[in-house]
Amino acid sequence: TVSAEFLSGLPKCELHLHLEGTLEPELKLTLAMRNGIDIGQTTVEDVRATYVFDSLAAFLAVYYPAMNVLVTEQDFYDLAHEYFTRAAIDGVRRVEAFFDPQAHTSRGIPIETVIQGYHRAAVDAANFGVSAELILCFLRDFSAESALQTLRDALPYKDQFIGVGLDSDERDNPPAKFAEVFALARAEGLKLTMHCDIDQVGSIENIRQVLDEIKVDRIDHGTNVVESPELVELLRLRQIGLTCCPISNSFVTADMKATEIVDLLHAGVKVTINSDDPAYFGAYVAENYRALADRANLSRDDMILLAKNSFEASWLSDDDKQMYL
Ligand code: ADE
Ligand code: ZN
Repeated sequence: TVSAEFLSGLPKCELHLHLEGTLEPELKLTLAMRNGIDIGQTTVEDVRATYVFDSLAAFLAVYYPAMNVLVTEQDFYDLAHEYFTRAAIDGVRRVEAFFDPQAHTSRGIPIETVIQGYHRAAVDAANFGVSAELILCFLRDFSAESALQTLRDALPYKDQFIGVGLDSDERDNPPAKFAEVFALARAEGLKLTMHCDIDQVGSIENIRQVLDEIKVDRIDHGTNVVESPELVELLRLRQIGLTCCPISNSFVTADMKATEIVDLLHAGVKVTINSDDPAYFGAYVAENYRALADRANLSRDDMILLAKNSFEASWLSDDDKQMYL
């Protein structure tokens, strides 16, 4: 087995992390109090008791209402700052973090409040050795028009995020629905990634779309690609990073998908290990490495390969990558 100390000391990147998914019960209660919001619970234990789910839908039904406690620029700063602090302890040197502006603008929070709070925390993370950047995600269960409007509203702050992503409920919301907004994002010089969640209806077709039609730079989850040897080969040839999240998988599907993740890794696909929504799934990134190593009997060398992959799949400049590799 590989020790927890070795894994938290291993320099790594976190490439699949939703900032809103780092809302721990303690901070949720603090922000609710600060903003005078009744969330229905008054103790950490009671909040934690609501953090139970056995599917993506059940998770999202807890995740979105929880965000009501985020109101001011300082709230967004505090959420991200607390996460970056934890990440540093976990050996994370680089974070490319997702955020969901539509989950806030749809309840009346200005997009600049969200971006500026998160961005200020990302800048401050350099003070404790974490290079942090933001990825603006569109909610795929909202319309393509809403995504396009969100990107237009965010473009004045384009120097404060490095890419765009796509998350939320994948069912009936295929990648092609967002072809136009992703084409605009690329034309604006932004990097592209999209979730291809675990065991979705039409998974393989969606993975084909993100590669052929959207031409993403990375895929979030994407583990179902194992069903198509042809697409696995394409991922290997293009060296497209896959941001896998073992413990998240075990919540939304009752299976860590360790066999699939390890098969892809050993097939030469640029597999990385990440935490997704650590406050909800109860595990930060080093613990995801550890759980996978335990389940699949992986060696220290496999862990080092995964950490190396995380730098190679990151959107650091080639010069910056050399500094870490
Ligand atoms: N938003 C936050 N976490 C997510 C996940 N695991 N899948 C889809 N959308 C999400
Ligand atoms: Zn995710």
